[in-house]
Amino acid sequence: MKEFWSSRIRDMVPYTPGEQPRGRTFIKLNTNENPYPPAPGALEAIRAAANGDLRLYPDPEATELRAALAKFHGVKEEQVFVGNGSDEILAFCFAAFFGPEQPVVFPDVTYSFYPVYAGLFGIEYRTIPLREDFSLPVEDFLGKNGGVILPNPNAPTGRALALADVERLCKGNPDVAVVIDEAYVDFGTETALSLLDTCPNLLVVRTMSKSRSLAGMRLGYAVGSANLIAALRCVKDSFNSYTLDRVALAAAKASVEDAAYFSETCQKIAATREGTARRLTELGFEVCPSKANFLFVRFPGRSGKELLDGLREAGILVRWWNQPRIADHLRITIGTEEEMDALVEALRRLTRGEGN
Ligand SMILES: Cc1ncc(COP(=O)(O)O)c(C=O)c1O
Repeated sequence: MKEFWSSRIRDMVPYTPGEQPRGRTFIKLNTNENPYPPAPGALEAIRAAANGDLRLYPDPEATELRAALAKFHGVKEEQVFVGNGSDEILAFCFAAFFGPEQPVVFPDVTYSFYPVYAGLFGIEYRTIPLREDFSLPVEDFLGKNGGVILPNPNAPTGRALALADVERLCKGNPDVAVVIDEAYVDFGTETALSLLDTCPNLLVVRTMSKSRSLAGMRLGYAVGSANLIAALRCVKDSFNSYTLDRVALAAAKASVEDAAYFSETCQKIAATREGTARRLTELGFEVCPSKANFLFVRFPGRSGKELLDGLREAGILVRWWNQPRIADHLRITIGTEEEMDALVEALRRLTRGEGN
């Protein structure tokens, strides 16, 4: 079948996104979306941007959005890069910072898109095992490597690294880029942005898909030294000048300008996470300590697939990976309080063998 495919693509195993169901209505806890709508100002900006100006290309420099983000984070505009979802920026990072000379390193249990990008760009990688409890052995990430990339908090475990450990990662790898993927940082982890002044090799990548409820607009950004940002711009302008459309640019700017709504929904989700973790622990689940908008859980003696299928039958979608070390775990996105009530009740029935 793969006639005409390039040899590089022929052997690629692409990333599998979580299911976006059609038809039946599910409680959707499988792709770490935010259960609350985007900031009201963002929705207004989207409506206002849907006008005749769409005949014009968007600003290839995303000047206004970058200015809003620079102001929000207290950095210079040349330290900010924006992209079509943070996935795009992460892909650009592999092209911009990692090469064939030395393998880039990341944890064995982490965001499963990293090895896919490495494959796409022909970059060697080495995975470093997390400890038994999925905590990260920082010392194993120091030394000879071609760069470091990892999420903080990690995905799919939700475990966070302390700022001092992120600093050790940057300072212990002074000759290569260290990319910290802060997709879930707003739900309770200390950001690495304060290290930017002393760590010129640090790039912080953020998404608006989770804490800002804008997964459907595809918006991400990165903050780092002007030097690292220039490398990302070089990749982008060698690929597609206009990665963000006019509507997305307007939505993102309005979202950034509504700091109050954003912090309120993040706090609500963090509180729901803590309550859900407590209830699942009471049911007998092992719950990995999470600082993200999801929980990584396992029920001793029950397979992950069994629970996944049982929840699906009960109308609840969660995420499961048939992979070493984590095949008995489920990753459960934090939804509304009502959605988590339904989840806890379904898991109670399943683990007590009561069916649905
Ligand atoms: C760790 C991590 N990084 C990045 C992303 C991608 O987010 P975006 O929607 O901005 O592409 C995800 C999405 O699930 C993620 O889990």
